[in-house]
Amino acid sequence: MRAKIILVTGSNKGIGLEIVRQLAQQGNEVILTARDEKKGLEAQNKLKAEKLTVHFIQLDITNQESIQHAFNQVKSEFGKLDVLINNAAVLLKEDQSLLRNDAAVFEKTLHANAFAQLAVTKQFYSIIPNGGRIIMTSSGGGSMSDPVGGWSPAYCVSKSLLGAITRHLAHELSNRNISVNAFDPGWVKTDMGGNSAPRSVAQGADTAVWLATNEGTATGKFFRDRKAIAW
Ligand SMILES: NC(=O)c1ccc[n+]([C@@H]2O[C@H](COP(=O)([O-])OP(=O)(O)OC[C@H]3O[C@@H](n4cnc5c(N)ncnc54)[C@H](OP(=O)(O)O)[C@@H]3O)[C@@H](O)[C@H]2O)c1
Repeated sequence: MRAKIILVTGSNKGIGLEIVRQLAQQGNEVILTARDEKKGLEAQNKLKAEKLTVHFIQLDITNQESIQHAFNQVKSEFGKLDVLINNAAVLLKEDQSLLRNDAAVFEKTLHANAFAQLAVTKQFYSIIPNGGRIIMTSSGGGSMSDPVGGWSPAYCVSKSLLGAITRHLAHELSNRNISVNAFDPGWVKTDMGGNSAPRSVAQGADTAVWLATNEGTATGKFFRDRKAIAW
């Protein structure tokens, strides 16, 4: 396998950090990013202690200046980006009801979980070579065919929107053969998923790592456990 240059947003912990770990273990040039520089450097050191060398760049996906700055760094240090993994997201504890939530909960969630992924992609796609890949970390909560569970509705709507964005970006980038896919990691033991979650971060990261490195050509699809599922 040829080594790829891969950037993962929100990768100082949780599923993002595990995606970075697995991709680095495979010999790729991986760029760990975090909105908080200290947390990012700590995560980079954690991997160093595991004998894994990864790059670090500060990136707050909700801040256009930070996106621009990260882009400039990737462009000047690497010249291109083979794979962009839009993993960062938030799940706000106030997110209980679309009808009763303060509007700010909905706006903040949509911004961090869907508009920001589009903003990052808009900034970086010019340096993604033809045949490159964009991967969105979605959620079963964003499914438009599974029954609605009622939990964290703004979060679920933001992930449905992310799915719609994924499909349209896949169409727009098909002329450059850049694939754009989303995946559901399942319910994973992280700060977001909590301790009751049945899946390990290794299981949660697996489909993203596979989408970043497999030989497949699928685009505009939603995956779970390496299989395309209904949106
Ligand atoms: N865990 C689950 O069960 C589950 C299920 C389905 C989907 N997912 C999805 O999987 C992805 C990773 O979730 P996780 O469980 O690993 O959550 P997590 O442990 O809470 O990690 C989320 C990461 O996103 C970062 N982040 C949040 N806002 C950001 C911003 N504005 N700019 C940059 N980074 C930001 C966080 O940084 P800080 O450390 O600074 O907060 C953290 O690194 C998310 O897209 C989530 O929606 C998770």
